[in-house]
Amino acid sequence: MEKQEIRTFGRRHGKKLSIRQQALIDELLPTLAPETGDILEIGFGAGEHVRDLARNNPGKIIIGAEPFMNGVASLLSAITDEKTNRVLDEYAGIRIWADDVRDYLRGTDSKFEQIWILHPDPWPKARHEKRRLLSAEFLKMISRYLTPDGEIIIGTDHWEYFDWILEQIKSTNLTATIPNMDIIQTRYQHKNKAGTVAPKYLILTNH
Ligand SMILES: C[S@@+](CC[C@H](N)C(=O)[O-])C[C@H]1O[C@@H](n2cnc3c(N)ncnc32)[C@H](O)[C@@H]1O
Repeated sequence: MEKQEIRTFGRRHGKKLSIRQQALIDELLPTLAPETGDILEIGFGAGEHVRDLARNNPGKIIIGAEPFMNGVASLLSAITDEKTNRVLDEYAGIRIWADDVRDYLRGTDSKFEQIWILHPDPWPKARHEKRRLLSAEFLKMISRYLTPDGEIIIGTDHWEYFDWILEQIKSTNLTATIPNMDIIQTRYQHKNKAGTVAPKYLILTNH
């Protein structure tokens, strides 16, 4: 029997969706199913950074993975024309996987220039630690989906989780650098539940 995978995310549904959001989930989302892509963002929340990636990388395919359907609905609303529900030109490269990213990765042979993970759920209680997404096992898994010069870019304002990730990296073949970065503020960063002064970032490569 296959080992049951540990769930790394919280709820999949929040408050009731608006009629427009539900229509976008029912009719538009199936047309944005990802195949291969250039850039992947895992756990995009409400999708502010996915949109930023699309605006800054015209012509590239940006895949966002997020199982929280209200977040998916927020992104769909933000990338479409309010009257026609059509995707705006600047967001034409966005594709959405509305579920656990591990299920998407198992079914693709895509190689990404960048894999972004911003503010992964910190699961601060010791008994929830096994739910943390950025385990050595997961980092090894996603590193197989990088181009030769590809980068995994991680940001978190939870400094204890940051140190925990550094420990995980030691049992992988990945090389870590700690960059100075200035990127748009996501919704979770704005909340700053950890109460730290700033997020810390990490760039991981296969060489
Ligand atoms: C704390 S939120 C941060 C959201 C967003 N990146 C931000 O900065 O606002 C972490 C997100 O990761 C998502 N997530 C957790 N495990 C995931 C998985 N296995 N695949 C895809 N997304 C996942 C959760 O649903 C949640 O929305």
